[in-house]
Amino acid sequence: MNAHAPSAVRLPLTEARIADDDFDRMRRENLARWPTGAGVVFDAAVERHLALPPHKRLAHVMREAERRGLCLTQPRGGFGTFEMHRSLMQTLDREGLADVVPTTTDSYTRNEQWALAQRGIEESEKAGRSMLNGYPMVNYGVPRARDLVDAVDKPTIMLTGTAMPKLTGEIGYAAGYSGYLGSGIAYTTSYTKELPIAEGIRNYQYLDRLAARYGEHGVELHRRQPGFLTGTNIPPSIAIAVAVLDCLLAAAQGVRNYGLEMGQTLNLVQDAAAVAACRALCQEYLRRRGYSDVHTPITLLHWMGAWPHDEAQCAALVVYGGTLAAIAGATSVTTKSTHEAYGIPTAQANAEGLRMTRMAIYLARQTRLDGLREFEEEKALIAREVRAIVDKTLEMGDGDAALGTVRAFQAGVLDIPWSPNRECKSRVMPARDADGYLRILDPADMPFPKEVIAIHEEKLRRRAARERVPYGAELAIASVYEMSEPLAKLMSDRRLLRD
Ligand code: 5AD
Repeated sequence: MNAHAPSAVRLPLTEARIADDDFDRMRRENLARWPTGAGVVFDAAVERHLALPPHKRLAHVMREAERRGLCLTQPRGGFGTFEMHRSLMQTLDREGLADVVPTTTDSYTRNEQWALAQRGIEESEKAGRSMLNGYPMVNYGVPRARDLVDAVDKPTIMLTGTAMPKLTGEIGYAAGYSGYLGSGIAYTTSYTKELPIAEGIRNYQYLDRLAARYGEHGVELHRRQPGFLTGTNIPPSIAIAVAVLDCLLAAAQGVRNYGLEMGQTLNLVQDAAAVAACRALCQEYLRRRGYSDVHTPITLLHWMGAWPHDEAQCAALVVYGGTLAAIAGATSVTTKSTHEAYGIPTAQANAEGLRMTRMAIYLARQTRLDGLREFEEEKALIAREVRAIVDKTLEMGDGDAALGTVRAFQAGVLDIPWSPNRECKSRVMPARDADGYLRILDPADMPFPKEVIAIHEEKLRRRAARERVPYGAELAIASVYEMSEPLAKLMSDRRLLRD
């Protein structure tokens, strides 16, 4: 058995739905890569899902939350052995009151190094604490994953931070997990250096096609685009352009429940505008292509940049992140904890992060920004930027979102700040402006309209002048580290009070 044998089924890159018989062959090949793949029995999996109560089906729960205007809470979390992970899931469910319970996989699993994950399990057992940074879903296989789903009374989602989701996804979905986070464009450009973007797209076309096949058997599964995890600032228009493209790719495979995530900018008006714009633009492009029945709930992520090494400051970011999500009208928020700067949180800290967030949502639940001039202007600005990028990308692919994406990255029309991937130019440069919005400092080859870039430049120049720093890369770098600065430094403006 060779986990990394090149695939025998090789189709030309296109957004088109993978044909049934090709997909059958791809599945057989995929499931044969590790012994636990044999535990995936599709008909049994369908029955399993149909037997789950509606409140444990994530597609249903997200739709219902969106309809009622609720903001759900969901943490991240994964430990290296079955027992430790089950206990974590129960703590997040019962003490954290999480609406959605996660299973984050470990780095070996994300990189399909299952033999190394096995050693991690053994070492975790010996040490009596988790020696892996997540749960090795593939090694434990379907029966154990079923036990995890049964251990909580909430819908469960796989969080696997990988551009290679095929076996993890098969196993988790077969066990009754009803959600999977990840996408071809966002994860390949966030997490991989050498993997061609086309390969990441193909890998997620497989997963999307799998979710759609369950759908053909009456099982609605939730798929979700992960936003950006580069740990830096991503302006909303870039995140949303990629979200739209990932969404179109999933819809083409037959996915009908597709969530979109975005990292918080921490500017209330911009985050609210981004949520509204993302929702509208995904639907606009889906409908243009004839998909009128795809549900696209929006999730905001607690700050994805560097966190302060101070639990009090972290607590403020957690609470503020709940406030932002509630006012923005996000359907869910993915939470962090006061341990974020130090590594993987304990189950208790993770549960507290959930409760802090939930209380903040409760406090802010009635406030909306609709009609506020700054909010409406920002929404319109984001929409102009996104349309320029997405239209050009689709044009470059002669209407095909997969081909267009690959060509647009080659040309720099699609670009991601500070991406590790070799196929991404990463020449576009964002920075925070005088009013706290994330703006484009240097568009590089991205097709932002000239007048839009002039607006960004004016606001960034105002910040440079106010802070007496040169207008340039320094602004971008200061913006990346800002939130992790010690409180004393963030309070430097107060010195004036003593003068
Ligand atoms: N448990 C909890 N959080 C995790 N993250 C990654 N792995 C785990 C885990 N096993 C979180 C990081 C960061 C985000 C990207 O995922 O703390 O907040």
